[in-house]
Amino acid sequence: MSQPVAGIILAAGKGTRMKSELPKGLHSVMGLPMVELVGRAMRAAGVEKPIVVIGHRGELIQEALGGCYAYAWQREQHGTGHAAQMAADQLKGHNGPVIIAPGDTPLLSDEMLKELVVRHVETRAKCTVATSFVDDANGYGRIVRDHHGLIERIVEHKDATPEQHEIKEVNAAVYCFDAPTLLRILPTLSNENAQGEYYLTDVIAAIANEGGKGVEALVVNDPDILMGVNDRWQLAQAEKALRQETNKRHALNGVTILDPDTTYIGLDVEIGPDTIIEPSTFLLGNTKIGSNCEIGPCAKIKRSTIGDGCYVYMSHVNEATLEGENKVGPYANIRPGTVLKRKAKIGNFVEVKNATLGEGSAANHLSYIGDATVGIKTNVGAGTITCNYDGFGKHRTTIGDGVFVGSNSTLVAPLTIEDGAMIAAGSVVTHNVPADALVVARSRQEVKEGWVSRWRNKKQSESQ
Ligand code: UD1
Ligand code: CA
Repeated sequence: MSQPVAGIILAAGKGTRMKSELPKGLHSVMGLPMVELVGRAMRAAGVEKPIVVIGHRGELIQEALGGCYAYAWQREQHGTGHAAQMAADQLKGHNGPVIIAPGDTPLLSDEMLKELVVRHVETRAKCTVATSFVDDANGYGRIVRDHHGLIERIVEHKDATPEQHEIKEVNAAVYCFDAPTLLRILPTLSNENAQGEYYLTDVIAAIANEGGKGVEALVVNDPDILMGVNDRWQLAQAEKALRQETNKRHALNGVTILDPDTTYIGLDVEIGPDTIIEPSTFLLGNTKIGSNCEIGPCAKIKRSTIGDGCYVYMSHVNEATLEGENKVGPYANIRPGTVLKRKAKIGNFVEVKNATLGEGSAANHLSYIGDATVGIKTNVGAGTITCNYDGFGKHRTTIGDGVFVGSNSTLVAPLTIEDGAMIAAGSVVTHNVPADALVVARSRQEVKEGWVSRWRNKKQSESQ
């Protein structure tokens, strides 16, 4: 595209029908605020710094979106046309196209916006409107065309006549305008309508009224893309639609998804081919999953990197790295700062935090490994606990290569166990262990032969 494209996102409204303290645009779909999803689509379509019109609790939107956007305040909300007027100052001097979209259309895609701009530029229109045909047009502005099929105006649901209510072609509220034309017409809008508001849609009628082929349409076949969210039920529908679309994209890229209805894959997640995602699995944040993995059922993986050939079964993994060919679960809790080197294994009811397990090492049952470094091919026996906290500070446990930690050992940090050492089961280890040493840190077993029957007999004679 030769000319730079500007963009405006309208997000000043309260969103009354959401019944929420939060401004509507900050309600999330797939973990991202709707207004940010619209912003992402605009930026991907080539708008360098979209202008976001904010009003109701606008500071929250500013805080959430940050510096990639410009902001225009609309302190009192007098309609979409009034909102666009608030951004007009920042458009002065811009002679190219300007996209305007509402902050409540979370499924808007950059491809669709690019298509809108291309159509607009090619047809040399003054305004190009995205429309779509829907079964239930309730609440939408209707597209009124003249007998040549040209758009004459857009009538809001509340202003429409019974005949106009029958029109199934609706306004998505996503437009591309010629910026100077928009700036010229915006100040002329009136608020004489059912809602007493300044409608942006009236700019279109004014352009059509000037004659010629000023108004073009881009009819979008998939009405989901243009879905506007006004209440929480529509929010749920948008969530479902975007989730399905995301799951489908991964499936078509070579990922097997057994049950798309119960699989939640965040928008920034990457997954390699031949990985299988089993039901009730959540992959969130900027998580990367390699190829040939088996994830789920019932796995929740957040902001983590999972290498090739890993198996994560009924477990949580949060801000951790699994280098590859790792087995995790069932019922493991892998917490931030965990690194599992290749082929390391974490089994059931094991919690790992801020710890590295070396290649081929394993903690297969019922353990807590926190603030620890474990070497290569070390076996951490069932029930082993690193006591990393003394009530004041956290301390590290360092375990070398080829160490055997017997079951139910209590390792009191700070502690170092050197290569090849062996810890007898049930030990409480409080001092460093040199390489190749055996540590038995528990009381010796005593066997008193015949003691039990002697004791029972004594008790019985006492009670008679
Ligand atoms: C709008 C369109 C309608 C279209 C529908 C599609 C107008 C007049 N109507 O109606 O034709 O079919 O979207 O979803 O444009 N906003 C402001 N300031 C205001 C009013 C609204 O910033 O003073 C923002 C809202 O925060 C929202 C967007 O503009 O993000 C659209 O407003 P909304 O009230 O949802 O308009 P609809 O009734 O859905
Ligand atoms: Ca709306």
